[in-house]
Amino acid sequence: MDNRQKYLEAIKAQLEPNIFKHSLAVETCMGALYDYFQSQNLLDLNEPKRNEWTLAGLIHDIDYSQEFKSTHPAKTKEALSKYNLTISEAIDHIVKVHVPNLTGVKPTTKADWSIFCVDSLTGLIVAAALVYPSKKLADVKLSSVLKRFLKEPKFAAGTRRTDVALCSQADGLNLPLEKFVEISLSAMQKIAPEIGL
Ligand SMILES: [Fe+2]
Repeated sequence: MDNRQKYLEAIKAQLEPNIFKHSLAVETCMGALYDYFQSQNLLDLNEPKRNEWTLAGLIHDIDYSQEFKSTHPAKTKEALSKYNLTISEAIDHIVKVHVPNLTGVKPTTKADWSIFCVDSLTGLIVAAALVYPSKKLADVKLSSVLKRFLKEPKFAAGTRRTDVALCSQADGLNLPLEKFVEISLSAMQKIAPEIGL
């Protein structure tokens, strides 16, 4: 069993199906964002490695479940230890930074900003697929996600639109919202069958 597979089995066992799928979505978006920044030579030497970006995405909500739920995200390591798994400090940091209001850990690297901004976007993208009769992510256009995000605040109202929009912050990801959504949507479309869309 490869390394990722072990963590995948753990979140599958630990999480409710919708959070499990959300975790796969965040994992793939983190990988796609890394690849984009890497292709543009925008990653500093202090950035975590690609497998740390993606593994953090995969397990970031592992303690948003069962006996740990009320203390999320403080029990990431405890939840993983149920499955004899550990994570690096770099991954632990990325996990903590996805909820700065609970952990006090503020985003600084591109890995940090990526998880912080994308965590809440995946749900809106899923909701955008579910309004089509086909319920397929393949049918979702970038323009329709952007319209629902910008012009329809009641659509997927739980989306933390202000957090997502921080993707354009110059000292963070420095990505226009359009580009950020494009990268994330296209990444999720590539794993659509795995997330049931
Ligand atoms: Fe999440």
